[in-house]
Amino acid sequence: MPTARVDDSLDHARRLNAHYDAATTSEGGSLLARLRDAFLDAGCDPDRLSVDEVAGIDQLHLGGRRASRSLATMGELQGGERVLDVGCGTGGASRLLAAEYGCHVVGVDITTAFVEVASWLSKATGLAEHTRFLCADAGSVPLAQESIDRVWCQHALMNMPHVPRVLAEWRRLLVPGGCVLLHEVVTGDNPEPLVLPVPWARTLATSYLRSREQLERSMTLSGFEPLRVDDVTDAALAWRQVHSRRESRPDDALEKSRRLPGPEMIFGEVFPTMGRNLRDNLAAGKVRILEGVWRAIN
Ligand SMILES: C[S@@+](CC[C@H](N)C(=O)[O-])C[C@H]1O[C@@H](n2cnc3c(N)ncnc32)[C@H](O)[C@@H]1O
Repeated sequence: MPTARVDDSLDHARRLNAHYDAATTSEGGSLLARLRDAFLDAGCDPDRLSVDEVAGIDQLHLGGRRASRSLATMGELQGGERVLDVGCGTGGASRLLAAEYGCHVVGVDITTAFVEVASWLSKATGLAEHTRFLCADAGSVPLAQESIDRVWCQHALMNMPHVPRVLAEWRRLLVPGGCVLLHEVVTGDNPEPLVLPVPWARTLATSYLRSREQLERSMTLSGFEPLRVDDVTDAALAWRQVHSRRESRPDDALEKSRRLPGPEMIFGEVFPTMGRNLRDNLAAGKVRILEGVWRAIN
């Protein structure tokens, strides 16, 4: 890899780690340690957790588990398939695909703290045998060529500056005829600037939104044919509206110490603002949400 590309990649990793693990700097203690303490405070054993208990911290995309199930259904996922979860975050989709669809999943993410948390949560929920996690850039994944049946990617390309490089890596890793299942944020028709912060960016330094047309063109140029692509913005907006309403009036009846950890443990106190801004950007047509399946052309 030429030096300029290595520097570029290190800089990208540094910016994303600073964004997604910002609360570690402000709060002190690793994300893993803080989350373990939060589960203890909520009366849970951090080494024996249910998938429901961890749902507040392992679904870092619009629509939560329902959106992941919708994508899995659209892509007709089959038991035993080898799936690469690109930009897996804390690994919620990887575990869902293992637990509900019988897949063998490798999650890859550039944010070190997320990979540590993903591995811990899989062990704690009894899914470590079917999921494993690697800390790597999606443009250079340490796996053998043609070792993956499906690439799965939810809300991660909008963090990545070099999509053609990432798509070339998907082509290398996929078996002939393998599919890509994508749930992604793209720009809308409203060209006004995004209201920031949003969950993937506090500043434009980590936001690389593209239009639907640009994304579809990149997929075609990289050797993928679309099987189906849906615009699911309305459902995503409705989901975000409900969650923003909930986040604006925390349940006073439940003592803070007994609440299960949620996304504010990861993003910090700014999370409700990020959620509201995302809602408003969706409502104003500045961003849209796509769900689709593409097949590698032989
Ligand atoms: C909004 S989060 C979504 C996480 C997960 N897909 C989910 O839906 O819960 C975006 C994730 O993409 C990861 N990411 C961004 N750029 C990446 C890259 N170049 N290589 C690997 N992971 C990356 C980030 O670290 C972050 O965990």
